Amino acid sequence: MTKILLADPDPRSQADLRELLTRRGYELDAAADVATALEPVADGDVDLVLCDLALPGGGGLRLLQEVRNLRAETAVVLLSAFGSVQDAVQAMQHGAADFLGKPFAADQVLVAIDRALEKTALQRENHALRDALDDRLRLDNVVGADPRMQAIFKTVKAVAATRTTVLITGESGTGKTLLARALHSLSNRRQGPFVEVNCGALPESLLESELFGHVKGAFTGAVRDKPGKFEAAAGGTIFLDEVGTSSPAFQVKLLRVLQDRVVERVGDTRTLPVDVRIVLATNKDLAKAVASGEFREDLYYRIHVVAIEMPPLRERPGDLPALALHFLRRFAAEHGRGALQFTPAAMAALAAAPWPGNVRQLEHVIERAVVLGSGPVVDTADLPALVPARPAAPAPAPLPADAPVLPLRDALAAAERQIIVHALAHAGGNRERAARDLGVNRSTLFHKLRKYGIR
Ligand SMILES: Nc1ncnc2c1ncn2[C@@H]1O[C@H](COP(=O)(O)OP(=O)(O)OP(=O)(O)O)[C@@H](O)[C@H]1O
Ligand SMILES: [Mg+2]
Repeated sequence: MTKILLADPDPRSQADLRELLTRRGYELDAAADVATALEPVADGDVDLVLCDLALPGGGGLRLLQEVRNLRAETAVVLLSAFGSVQDAVQAMQHGAADFLGKPFAADQVLVAIDRALEKTALQRENHALRDALDDRLRLDNVVGADPRMQAIFKTVKAVAATRTTVLITGESGTGKTLLARALHSLSNRRQGPFVEVNCGALPESLLESELFGHVKGAFTGAVRDKPGKFEAAAGGTIFLDEVGTSSPAFQVKLLRVLQDRVVERVGDTRTLPVDVRIVLATNKDLAKAVASGEFREDLYYRIHVVAIEMPPLRERPGDLPALALHFLRRFAAEHGRGALQFTPAAMAALAAAPWPGNVRQLEHVIERAVVLGSGPVVDTADLPALVPARPAAPAPAPLPADAPVLPLRDALAAAERQIIVHALAHAGGNRERAARDLGVNRSTLFHKLRKYGIR
């Protein structure tokens, strides 16, 4: 129900308008000064404000300005008993939707209200459009500044509006499913369904009836006609995940859909046309699977129209900080942790990790750090999976039975000298690095170098 706030201290005016507006199906709220009027506006409860220019607590213009700041999409119509042309001009300049001199006819106020509401509806639509446009630039929620990711975004934008079949390959966790969704939400099918089927998770017989549907009596248990996922995805996108592991018989059926854009329910002889965009994904190397005979060559060429290869995370190190921050913000908000930051050491540890599980692994590591950590920063201690425990020192070689027994101090000194020489060689003569590797500060190392006459 459209809610109108009447900000007018005059009880007569309140009574008149209340009667008129509730009769017209509006919900009416009243306030007698600026502060009281602002509360429901700030809460976002109000669609339109009718405001008297002489409102106590700062005046109607003041309320108008506050409303514009708080909720620019809420329309304000100003009313005035002493309405001068100047007042009217000023009100309009400050963004009022209309200005009415009191007393006004019922029709006048109703027309003003209709017009103002219409205008705000249009504004809202514009905002929604602008947001959608921004999404387009960002490619939904997919983060990626790496040139290979940018090239992928370009491809996705180019083919989004078409019905072209798209194949997405890449290691597990690289964002194949996410990209498939982005493709759908950027396409002109976004209002239609996005139907996801994991082809690797179902046995062949089930997969077939799941995708194509079946008719009553097609097999034991088929007690009624059931449409398949292809039909369910009509007007939208069907996402066939793990297509690389599907059986040869299934591959033939899939080929048929791709060629003729028709499906046959299991047990039925009729063919049904389907209007779907097909997106497929696999983390298998399909070319290899074709070579080994596991995957049909004709199907391979059918689905290889637009092929997108998601690069593993380790091959796009430039994306790591942005992805890490993206997840940090998201999980900090989700788990109510406020604004969080990585320490430089934590960011370095993230950058140095190999990420065999790709973006999914990064996402999990960061969620864990956010959930289990405390305080305003995420440090290396919050990333235990990434910071390898120090390698255990190898046990020193056993002493030969006939080795002379030395005073402990001399024996330890000899061992220490040997370790320092080794560390220096390992660090290519760089003393600072040697000190760091040895876990001592520079002056301690220099002292020992002098002591043992190492240069
Ligand atoms: N570029 C990216 N930007 C933001 N989030 C990403 C990105 N890539 C992946 N993710 C997130 O990482 C997780 C794993 O991605 P997704 O499920 O799409 O990977 P996948 O390639 O489909 O993996 P699988 O092969 O195991 O199905 C998801 O939560 C996804 O939202
Ligand atoms: Mg996936």
